[in-house]
Amino acid sequence: MIRSIGSFIRGLPKAELHLHIEGTLEPEMVFELAHKNGVLLPYSSVQALRDAYNFDDLQSFLDVYYAGAAVLRDESDFHALTWAYLCKAHDQGVVHAEIFFDPQTHTAHGVPMAAVIGGIRRALVDGERAFGITHRLILCFLRHLSAADAMQTLEEALPHAAAISAVGLDSAESGNPPAKFASVFARARREGFLTVAHAGEEGPPDYIREALDVLGVSRIDHGVRCEEDAALIERLVREQVPLTVCPLSNVMLKVFERMQDHNLKRLLHLGVCVTVNSDDPAYFGGYVAENYLAVYRALELSRAEIVQLARNSIRASFLSAAEVGVWMRRIDQFVATA
Ligand code: ADE
Ligand code: ZN
Repeated sequence: MIRSIGSFIRGLPKAELHLHIEGTLEPEMVFELAHKNGVLLPYSSVQALRDAYNFDDLQSFLDVYYAGAAVLRDESDFHALTWAYLCKAHDQGVVHAEIFFDPQTHTAHGVPMAAVIGGIRRALVDGERAFGITHRLILCFLRHLSAADAMQTLEEALPHAAAISAVGLDSAESGNPPAKFASVFARARREGFLTVAHAGEEGPPDYIREALDVLGVSRIDHGVRCEEDAALIERLVREQVPLTVCPLSNVMLKVFERMQDHNLKRLLHLGVCVTVNSDDPAYFGGYVAENYLAVYRALELSRAEIVQLARNSIRASFLSAAEVGVWMRRIDQFVATA
């Protein structure tokens, strides 16, 4: 069968490893939940909200993203949000999703931790039953807040530890280095969590090094600024540290001016374990398949390189070695018949 590239990308089994569940909140759902929960929005219409999706940098995006996330108030909201994502992800060939959530955004509005985790988790279980999508949940600390606030959040989450695989670090990177959270991540590791961190999105390559050395992370989220430091690239290749790259996000937040300037292909050719992800798809113009398609077109990737990216996503996941083996064979079967 000769498939179009769009159909090839959608059909290819893949994992999504960098996805903020709050970043899947589509404008229509923002208004629906604002109405349901009596939350006053700083936007007059769905169109006015969409018009605000014109970002200069990470912070200008975060301002809109936190305003949107404020409409999520009860367990059913988190279920609806996560379920809507899983339906889209299933359509795009996602077989395994590792999902970030930002509990501090919600507990600050008085939403109980149990409602946040319970709603997301219930949808993930429903998604596994309906679509066979396996999952991991990653609790992210907001790095613009204090380490003490993060530690308190970790302690509040401990009763729900069975539902959480890893902790991560997101929000405003510049001026908030990974080392600020050294003691929180050390505690999280003692409690048995894996760790990841956003680093090298807007922040310098040294933040990537710090995330590895001080926070003990298994993966770097974004990490694209590693390219400024040859010794760091050598280390990422040697240690096969995965980068969860988000191409549409990087262009929308002006990390790269145009998709043609993106360094994903260069990093791939250097041997870095790069993966493709959607970050905040409701805000950045596409879910994971649109991200694959955008780099395929702008960077003139081959189908073999697209397959390599999907393989990397499975290998970089927190699935067991046996599960990784199963999906690698499924990818081989797909390629043989595509
Ligand atoms: N929170 C949601 N998306 C993010 C991003 N791209 N960088 C940092 N924090 C985020
Ligand atoms: Zn992110």
